[in-house]
Amino acid sequence: MTAAGLRLLPAGEERLADVVAFVAAAQAQPERHVSFVGVDAGTLRHEFSEVEKWGDRLLVAIDGGDLVGALLADIDEEMRRVWWIGPWATDEDAAIELLSVARSRLGTLFDEEELAPDSRNEPLRSVARRLGFVEDTPSSVLSKVDLAADGSSSTEPMTPADAGTVAELHDAIFVGTHTPGAKLVAAERTRIRVARVDGTTAGYIAFEVQSDGAGYIDYLGVSPGARRRGLARALVADACRELAGEGVPAVHLTVRADAPGALDLYRSLGFVDERVVVPCRFGFTLG
Ligand SMILES: CC(C)(COP(=O)(O)OP(=O)(O)OC[C@H]1O[C@@H](n2cnc3c(N)ncnc32)[C@H](O)[C@@H]1OP(=O)(O)O)[C@@H](O)C(=O)NCCC(=O)NCCS
Repeated sequence: MTAAGLRLLPAGEERLADVVAFVAAAQAQPERHVSFVGVDAGTLRHEFSEVEKWGDRLLVAIDGGDLVGALLADIDEEMRRVWWIGPWATDEDAAIELLSVARSRLGTLFDEEELAPDSRNEPLRSVARRLGFVEDTPSSVLSKVDLAADGSSSTEPMTPADAGTVAELHDAIFVGTHTPGAKLVAAERTRIRVARVDGTTAGYIAFEVQSDGAGYIDYLGVSPGARRRGLARALVADACRELAGEGVPAVHLTVRADAPGALDLYRSLGFVDERVVVPCRFGFTLG
């Protein structure tokens, strides 16, 4: 198949089942996997079912009658950044064609772009390189199942009085991240627990229950002056306990591979390495 024979069009409801089956088959293979959406068909069906929300941001490639590629654009128009989800395609030329068309259709909405293939997804890493994306520091994806619901907590849910300190701590620790402190503490879906030292808020964990029912840890930060006293360990354990108490079956997270302290922490709490993801960025870098 050549890119020249492709028809590229926005996917409507009528193609949803095909898109889900196509993407689920790709997501199950490490050498075709990308971040930001699930792996199993049920989760993907749920994520893609918000197709009206995606509108012309879910693009498919058709060759003859066959679906041979898909690409989703998750755009933060305020930040002017796009997270490309996919492209999943049967060859590199189709992937490039999908990205190029999407970039030309939606390019007025963003200046910064990110793609996040599994480190074993060499075809997409190659496509990204060919289009001028630059690889940043890889991240490890870890998960923990069989969460324990019992035991006592030494951390507390964030109160309105903690919000300012948590936002400041967050901005100081995670410079340039996509969710600034003020937005994080106000986010509806995000839960935050805090750890205190002598009454002062010195650490926080931000987590959520995703649409597939699993837990996800978004951020974990401890003030530099309060580190190595077990605050992070307590925050992670208590977040997992809170989720387990609600029947959440598993917790996932992503952490930069150059943060050995954080990796050691999560592994020592029973988290298991699932995959390594390589962020490929265009127009910006997070190092
Ligand atoms: C990573 C971080 C949250 C750890 O917070 P903390 O309160 O100091 O961690 P804890 O005291 O609970 O440490 C628990 C375990 O994690 C590991 N650990 C934590 N910091 C470490 C470091 N700098 N180097 C090596 N191991 C480390 C150790 O195994 C430690 O157990 P030990 O002290 O018994 O050896 C903190 O250093 C931080 O905010 N870093 C910047 C942001 C970040 O990387 N967040 C995590 C990714 S989202």
